[in-house]
Amino acid sequence: MWHATVDSLDRLPQLDMLVRQGIYRGGQGDMVGTLRGTLGWRNLPGEVDMPNVPVTGTMPEWLSGSLLRTGPSKWDLGRQHLLHWWDGLALLQRFSFAGGTVSYRCRFLDSPGYRTQEATGRISWKSFATDPCAGLMRGEKTDLVEENGNCNINITRIGEVVAAQGEGAMAVTFDPETLQATGWLDQSPADNDIPGHHAVTAHPHRDFDHKIQYNVHTVLGPNPVYQIVSTDITTGTPEILSTVPVESGNPGYRHHFSMTENYVIAVEYPLTTDLATLAAGDRPFVACFRWNPTAATKIFITSRVDGTLHKVLEAKGFFAVHHANAYEVGDMIFMDVAAYDSAEHMTDFYLDRRHHNSPLSLGQLRRYALPLGASNEVTCEVLSSQQVELPTYNYGRHNGKPYRYVYSAGMRQDLPEVAYNQIVKADTRSHVSTTWFQDGCFPGEPVFVPTPGATTEDDGVILCLVLDTTTQTSFLLVLNARDFSEVARAQLDTFIPFGLHGQYLGDHYSSL
Ligand code: CO
Repeated sequence: MWHATVDSLDRLPQLDMLVRQGIYRGGQGDMVGTLRGTLGWRNLPGEVDMPNVPVTGTMPEWLSGSLLRTGPSKWDLGRQHLLHWWDGLALLQRFSFAGGTVSYRCRFLDSPGYRTQEATGRISWKSFATDPCAGLMRGEKTDLVEENGNCNINITRIGEVVAAQGEGAMAVTFDPETLQATGWLDQSPADNDIPGHHAVTAHPHRDFDHKIQYNVHTVLGPNPVYQIVSTDITTGTPEILSTVPVESGNPGYRHHFSMTENYVIAVEYPLTTDLATLAAGDRPFVACFRWNPTAATKIFITSRVDGTLHKVLEAKGFFAVHHANAYEVGDMIFMDVAAYDSAEHMTDFYLDRRHHNSPLSLGQLRRYALPLGASNEVTCEVLSSQQVELPTYNYGRHNGKPYRYVYSAGMRQDLPEVAYNQIVKADTRSHVSTTWFQDGCFPGEPVFVPTPGATTEDDGVILCLVLDTTTQTSFLLVLNARDFSEVARAQLDTFIPFGLHGQYLGDHYSSL
């Protein structure tokens, strides 16, 4: 078990110092070992077009649409090096399916930050864990780009506009066919009278019935607040549903949140942003976070109907990056998350740590029971014996509603490696988990696509990009979601570095 300390997130930016001294080169520098799995953090060799990807097995003929993904893909940029997985240059990917065939394309996201880097050879933005000014050779100067647009976390959509999403309110729109960037999508509400920079979660939730998207914004300014912003998903007009002052003055870091039929549930973990450090502007973002191992985790339950803060509950301190589903039964909310006892997950993915096989914190699939009535007692239950991260579910049909199955990446407990090495299907009812594993293979986020006309929750397929370190190539794995048997795989002729999230945009189904 790892140990949490208040300064546990603050010591790692010392890597900046190692870079300045020329000791550590980040990315695929001299310190890279031969551990299998670290290939996923090597630079993408180049952009790829494969009009006909070789398929083994039988690709379902009904699969008609595209899996769009984004994620980090390049960390060594000239003489500069990005230090953390999540800092890497955004790569857009598209797997397109038609009549049992597959095509593939990937492009670096043509953002202002990318363009400036290409033109000058320098990193022009401060990212999650890398401050380019700290790693510069003497005499060099970098003019930081205010909106760098390196949106490497998730895919979102407003109307017919598809965009790559980071943790800022400005997303970058792109053509889902060519993957060429086309402009900005500003997700900040126009009627906001509270000044400050909007940090948003990279995982907006969608209510398909009412055509509304919800997100939780953190306004980082002199008087920080949390805001729930609702957006009409056809017109794209963001409006403030609720505003809650940050009582401590130091906002929590939040990557995801939960939504049920009547509520938005925003969680404030004991990982808070030191606004004074942030305002000083001379440290990467991760150095501005403080983990308090003795603090509670606060759970804000807000009505989706009228924006009133229904109640704030407290649970024994825990951390999560990703939530699975949440739903209401009577006067209870059940909220499922990939939970951790500390925030070490945030620093586990310094490339230096991965290349040296430092322990990887592993998420536990927990269900928090949140009473809506008079009781304030929060209880929690572990739903799977398997470790989970990047959890997904049958989003289109079950988001915010009762459900049974969580799909995720995970780690074999008898074979801990540098990266997730299995795919897990957790049955939250029986607590039985099914897994897919192939020696030397490292999967990313599994995405569920239902069979047309499906009548059961797991009638469909799982799409998952897998890195095969034995052949140094990646393949798209298609599993039968019911029993995790292999349906097909589409074999690329190169490896693709570990990305983050994807969404399926199809003729009969869309997760967006
Ligand atoms: Co995420």
